[in-house]
Amino acid sequence: MLKGVVASAVLLLVVVLVVRTVHLSRRPPQTSECKPTDSDFIPLNDERLQRFQKAISFESVSRDDGDSNSDEMFRYGEFIIASFPHIHRHSPLVTWERVNNLSLLYHVQGSDPSLRPYLLMAHTDVVPVTNLDQWNAPPFSGEVKDGFIYGRGTIDDKNNVMGILEATEFMLASKIRPQRSFYVALGHDEEIRGYQGAGLVAKRLAEKGVKEFEFIVDEGMAVFEGIIDGVSSPVASVGVSEKGMIVVKLSVEMPPGHSSMPPKETPITVLANAVKRLADNPQPSMLGYGVETDMFESLVPEVLDYDRAVIGDPRVKMEVIQAMEPHPVAGYRDTDFGYQVTIMVGNTDTIHYLNFTGDVYRFSPTHMFPGDPERFHGINERMSVKNYEQVINFFYHLIRNADQAGLSPAHSTHSDL
Ligand SMILES: *[C@@H]1O[C@H](CO)[C@@H](O)[C@H](O)[C@H]1NC(C)=O
Ligand SMILES: *[C@@H]1O[C@H](CO)[C@@H](O)[C@H](O)[C@H]1NC(C)=O
Ligand SMILES: [Zn+2]
Repeated sequence: MLKGVVASAVLLLVVVLVVRTVHLSRRPPQTSECKPTDSDFIPLNDERLQRFQKAISFESVSRDDGDSNSDEMFRYGEFIIASFPHIHRHSPLVTWERVNNLSLLYHVQGSDPSLRPYLLMAHTDVVPVTNLDQWNAPPFSGEVKDGFIYGRGTIDDKNNVMGILEATEFMLASKIRPQRSFYVALGHDEEIRGYQGAGLVAKRLAEKGVKEFEFIVDEGMAVFEGIIDGVSSPVASVGVSEKGMIVVKLSVEMPPGHSSMPPKETPITVLANAVKRLADNPQPSMLGYGVETDMFESLVPEVLDYDRAVIGDPRVKMEVIQAMEPHPVAGYRDTDFGYQVTIMVGNTDTIHYLNFTGDVYRFSPTHMFPGDPERFHGINERMSVKNYEQVINFFYHLIRNADQAGLSPAHSTHSDL
């Protein structure tokens, strides 16, 4: 007997918001290249390397809502607190707290209260490990092999967690006081959407009276080498927005019948045809749409209308299970902190902080060569020893450069696409 058949399909909106590319040569002039011979270069000594390896060794895995290695996350947090004495104990500039026991929030007080603070984000949780037999080194070892540090979290996202902390610790130990205040938020459940971590940190920030950030830097794109067609030099890509997302349930109900006398059409064939038509006719690019019009105008009805027209069969019912609008587009002019821009393809924790700024830059200083993107959430996740040193120095320079007043003016509009 055939009853109604219900299927759900995940349809990712192809809302490409940003295509304009700004070549690296158009970097703001105030940023100069950093070299290991600079007096402010932070070398990756044994201590710093070992701290990173130790960070990798915590199995701080998020699997699903309510299914995380909380004990390991807590131990990782304890390790962080013990490992950076200036941040957690000695410096009068820092206030910090645990949020929801497992996330960490820091405030570093700058000397100039007229400069709007910014936020550096990272997450301490990692995704589970699969295909253990195919790893070149145990995934929670942090083992160094042929110049690479192996392990879950080396590029997502313990590199950024530890890089931000090393840079901050170095600055405080050097008795340098930044002019611009900044916050650091280390969430513990980004891999499962961040409601217990970043979500509550955002709430806490609002409670503390924080209203606006100058900008936010979160994980995201990377430095691509030999990956972008036709470009041989390294390309630093900064995500300035995120795609929207919609989950739609399709269902078909038809009168029951007996399978010994199958009708010409069944709910299964009607549904299969609908799915086939959707697959053959993907959502058009809405480039510019959400930006040129009011960016808070909902795109969901447009998307549903399109799908309904493509399916062209009123027997297929559509129901929105979940939807997220594309994020606002961060400014990316020369005066806006510009790097090359491209679009972020996954969804991260930044959604929890959008009330604080329109300028979210999704960038990790991770060098990616052909074959490396598959290591994200994949097998043999690794980062070169040299790259980890660059990560630390990237954050240090970011913190120092953020003192420049040139970044300060508020961006009146993001509608320049
Ligand atoms: C924090 O989490 C750890 C690890 O799960 C747990 O042992 C501890 O009791 C928690 N503390 C609080 C205050 O909830
Ligand atoms: C952002 O602000 C809106 C309107 O004030 C509020 O409804 C929403 O809950 C806030 N979102 C977050 C993540 O705090
Ligand atoms: Zn991540």
